[in-house]
Amino acid sequence: MRMAIYPGSFDPLTNGHLDIIQRASKIFDRVVVAVAKNESKSSLFSISQRQELVTRCVGHLPNVEVDTFTGLLVNYAERHGTDVIIRGLRAVSDFEFEFQMALMNRKLNEHVETIFMMPKDTYTFLSSGLVKEIARLGGDVGAFVPVPVREALASVFAPVPSQTTV
Ligand code: PNS
Repeated sequence: MRMAIYPGSFDPLTNGHLDIIQRASKIFDRVVVAVAKNESKSSLFSISQRQELVTRCVGHLPNVEVDTFTGLLVNYAERHGTDVIIRGLRAVSDFEFEFQMALMNRKLNEHVETIFMMPKDTYTFLSSGLVKEIARLGGDVGAFVPVPVREALASVFAPVPSQTTV
């Protein structure tokens, strides 16, 4: 039984994340999406909201579960009996940080392997940060996130009337 962990902040989940989850679910018998509670990063949605949103968006994938974690990712992986971590790579700009993180995780636990997966090319420009900014400024994020996430963003950000300076 091949199991993999797909960790991230998912603040919030985008169509790019979902694309990676779907691809991973075809390769692995079991995929655990691990939503990180990162104390050093402020998030728009609470850990339980992020977990719930991801859960609602992966209901069609029977071999995918959603969990939360705190602390070191390699420790979480070990506790769950897996040595495979999946990370998405959108563009070369992602590479440096991901490379550093993968090698550091390997240093912390030599058994851990990080597998990089590329999302569909149409999602390579997507990020949770940009989605939040667009939603905050009243833009339509319907093409970038699953419906439950769009609704959650809409409930956080009331429409902003556009300002004109004379
Ligand atoms: O979606 P993100 O914010 O790019 O995900 C980053 C995440 C959560 C995977 C990373 O910050 C992480 O693994 N955090 C857990 C703490 C940890 O293990 N840090 C050492 C990484 S080398």
